[in-house]
Amino acid sequence: MSRFYVTTPIYYINDVPHLGTAYTTILADVISRYHRLRAQDTWALTGTDEHGLKIERAAEERGVPTEQFADQAAGPFKKMWPQLGCEFDDFIRTTEGRHTEAVQELWRRVRDNGDLYLGKYEGWYCVRCEAYYTERDLAPGNKCPDHKVEAERLAEPSYFFKLSQYEERLLAFYESHPDFVLPPGRMNEVKSFVKGGLEDISVSRTTFSWGVPVPDDEKHVMYVWFDALGNYWSALQGSKKTEAYWPPNVHLVGKDILRFHAVYWPAFLMAAGFSLDELPEHVFAHGWLTVNGEKMSKTLRNAVTPTHLLEAFEASLKDQMEPATAREVGADTMRYYLARAVAFGQDGDFNLRDLVQRYNSELGNSLGNLVQRVLAQTERHAESRVPDGSGASPGEAEAELGRAFEEAAHAAGDFLAVFQPQRAADAVWKAVDAANKYIDTRAPWALAKQGEMDELRLVLKTAIDALSALSVMVWPFMPSVGMEMGQQLGLPPLSMEATEDVWPTGLLNRTAGDALGKRRVIFPKLDAKKEAAFISQVLGHVPGAAEGAETKTAAPKKTTAKPPAPPETAPGSSAEDMREITFDDFQKVELRVGVVKAAENVPKKDRLLRLDVDLGEAEPRQIVAGLRESFEAEALVGRRVVVVANLAPRKFSKGLVSHGMILAAGKNPNLRLATAPEDVPAGTRLS
Ligand code: MSP
Repeated sequence: MSRFYVTTPIYYINDVPHLGTAYTTILADVISRYHRLRAQDTWALTGTDEHGLKIERAAEERGVPTEQFADQAAGPFKKMWPQLGCEFDDFIRTTEGRHTEAVQELWRRVRDNGDLYLGKYEGWYCVRCEAYYTERDLAPGNKCPDHKVEAERLAEPSYFFKLSQYEERLLAFYESHPDFVLPPGRMNEVKSFVKGGLEDISVSRTTFSWGVPVPDDEKHVMYVWFDALGNYWSALQGSKKTEAYWPPNVHLVGKDILRFHAVYWPAFLMAAGFSLDELPEHVFAHGWLTVNGEKMSKTLRNAVTPTHLLEAFEASLKDQMEPATAREVGADTMRYYLARAVAFGQDGDFNLRDLVQRYNSELGNSLGNLVQRVLAQTERHAESRVPDGSGASPGEAEAELGRAFEEAAHAAGDFLAVFQPQRAADAVWKAVDAANKYIDTRAPWALAKQGEMDELRLVLKTAIDALSALSVMVWPFMPSVGMEMGQQLGLPPLSMEATEDVWPTGLLNRTAGDALGKRRVIFPKLDAKKEAAFISQVLGHVPGAAEGAETKTAAPKKTTAKPPAPPETAPGSSAEDMREITFDDFQKVELRVGVVKAAENVPKKDRLLRLDVDLGEAEPRQIVAGLRESFEAEALVGRRVVVVANLAPRKFSKGLVSHGMILAAGKNPNLRLATAPEDVPAGTRLS
């Protein structure tokens, strides 16, 4: 029996889990569930990264002992993952004794190999990244390029790791293991980085004490990345697990931490005496979940948390199902959305309205209705048992469906095996579409009317075979839904410890006479009213969105329903996005030509500009706009703009009020202003 060891990064505990951090965890679970279904001995590891200056400081700020702070802060992560259907075999905390011992052992091996020496380090340090930056890498104002907060100048005695000695060996390793880093484009980035020359790196600190003590020199604690990367090895120590699972098949990581995993980590391991065959097989770097093109993060105040999404699902579906079931449906929808709407490896914008739309259409209309249609007919005409279809001969429609399922099952499996869950989900939904088409063409209700009972039984049996295969194929993405479908179809529950490969190869041939389970709607519809409530409930917890600005957080881009959300900078532009409004509705919007008289940055709000705009009124209007990422303030002075002049005043922090909205096309940082010809005076109404 082959085995599969998959890891997520271990999460910093100074934040609660948000959808950006849940992203890796969820996708790791999707992938590991697939391997479990294939009866591979699967080990999935996650955990928390609890050492370092920022944790020490966060504890100090709250006036609690660091250990106590760490214990409390790790809690939400441990609790959150099961709520999202994510089941891990182990959860490692870097503050555990088993971890400390193991990374100290790694350190000794590296030291004894002659790859550590004592020196002095001085540099620009970002506490949030726990990393030093060179002057060249810093953003203007000595800011961290990622977090946009000022880096600190630190100097301290430090042990250095001789990374410079590993340049050739790393390049040789990449050469012999060309798919060590995935997707392939990222492998090239890593190679060029290494070819650009490697410097020795500082791997210990003396300026704080919250870390793993350096063996035999306890003034020093280990640099958090040496400590943290060691978790993948430390978690397997002390039992037979190392023999069973080492080396990891894949480390799933965000692109921001690829370098640590693809350069430092293999170098540390080589230095500790690991052979090339004992290095991790793959490091897969995924992209960022973004909101209006910006990384979702607590710092940027645009983060949506899974907790709030689950609460919103619970509230929206409370009339139709138990709260616990509604939360499971919510968790599965989130999982499905993250796997399907975002290409794994690339950045993808998170969009609440898109999520609801996919829930209603791909989950509700396509999958949910399919289950209901087939099971309702089976209830009516076959007493809720798998019908015996042998009285009629399968024809072209059955053959076509069979082929579609064979293709989908193979493709979905192949894609999941190479970390392409989006394409895998596409393949599964091709099967869903094929099954819907089959039911539409074979129209069991018409066969029943015509008294064609043998044909009817064949069609229902074939459809149940299709649904049964689907219940397995959707399970990695949506474990609760997969189980619920299985239960309704009278199948035994899927096991996390499958001893037989149960991934379908096509339709799942069910035994005639098997009893089906209780039928129930899986994805109750979220109508326009519920959608509006859902979105505003979630956005109500997003600090940046609650503040209100034209650069709205999670501004939805696609919809078929009424617009519940606050104004957007970039409304969608495809045909599907067009919603009908009446002429009277349109007349209510007062669009006027304006001329910008003055513009300045809003202090501490790095996305906002404050503008004085002449609208032909006694005094220029003050308008606050999220245009700063696309325009320098001065460059806007004198520009002619189109303004929504009768928008209710909107309050920003510190009493700043905006009296209108400026129209722009596209997205930050490439917004273009909607404008008017030179000879149209300020204040002219557009109609
Ligand atoms: N503690 C380190 C990892 C050490 S692993 C040995 C760390 N922690 S983190 O909490 O800041 O981030 C953990 C993971 O979450 C990273 O892979 C990061 O890329 C990911 N994400 C955080 N925000 C994200 C998005 N908005 N989108 C996608 N992934 C994101 O780094």
